[in-house]
Amino acid sequence: MRQKPLIVANWKMNGLLLESMQYIKKFKTLLSCNLVNCEIVICPPFTLLRDFAEKLSGTDIELGGQNCHHRDHGAHTGDVSIAMLKDMKCGYVIVGHSERRMHYSEGSELVRKKAKAAYENGIKAIICIGETLYEKENNLTREILAEQLAHSVSKFATCENTVIAYEPVWAIGSGKTPTLGEINDIHLYIKDTLTKTLKKCTDGNIKVIYGGSVTTNNASEILAAKNVDGLLVGKASLDADKFWQIVSSS
Ligand code: PGA
Repeated sequence: MRQKPLIVANWKMNGLLLESMQYIKKFKTLLSCNLVNCEIVICPPFTLLRDFAEKLSGTDIELGGQNCHHRDHGAHTGDVSIAMLKDMKCGYVIVGHSERRMHYSEGSELVRKKAKAAYENGIKAIICIGETLYEKENNLTREILAEQLAHSVSKFATCENTVIAYEPVWAIGSGKTPTLGEINDIHLYIKDTLTKTLKKCTDGNIKVIYGGSVTTNNASEILAAKNVDGLLVGKASLDADKFWQIVSSS
């Protein structure tokens, strides 16, 4: 049986307090008037987590961090630990987003450590992987994904504590997406690769969600693809009505 889709909002470096509280109010009203068939996670910037935790308490919406340090505490100026995210009631954390891999040189080994820190604190890791345009054009997609999976996903990953987000780097924020067939094939490839490498996941049930230029126009057809277990939504999640439409397309 198909699992309930997981729809994650990644706000990136967007959102100030006042407008965000208005967003939550509107989104909660929409949610209370309609039935949805998915799990929802919102990952606002760290500065908003406390207010979100308060406003989302008692709802089914989960909260997530967009990144974390792999240590619990210490001399790491500007970093936020998993313990801190837990303190803010986060149930999820995004690790290895391509913007972190590219702009902060975060490699797969570090991503694996962050995910492990999340597991140890009872937080689910959303591990992002994806190929660049150059890699796609040179038919390296599968090789790159296999390499990222091998080094970012540890033997501690299970269906309960890990979600894989397939985000082609060239699709993020570009308005371009792979074809539905390509998305479906790549997701199947990711699932097969995980089933072969992870003993605890022989049923191939780790969720693989798609991210990169998801909009109100393409969300339902991407979600309908057989091997797609959810969506990671950036820009379109910043507007409560649009994110609502995406959530209700599940
Ligand atoms: P986008 O971002 O939906 O704005 O393309 C997705 C992401 O980077 O997670």
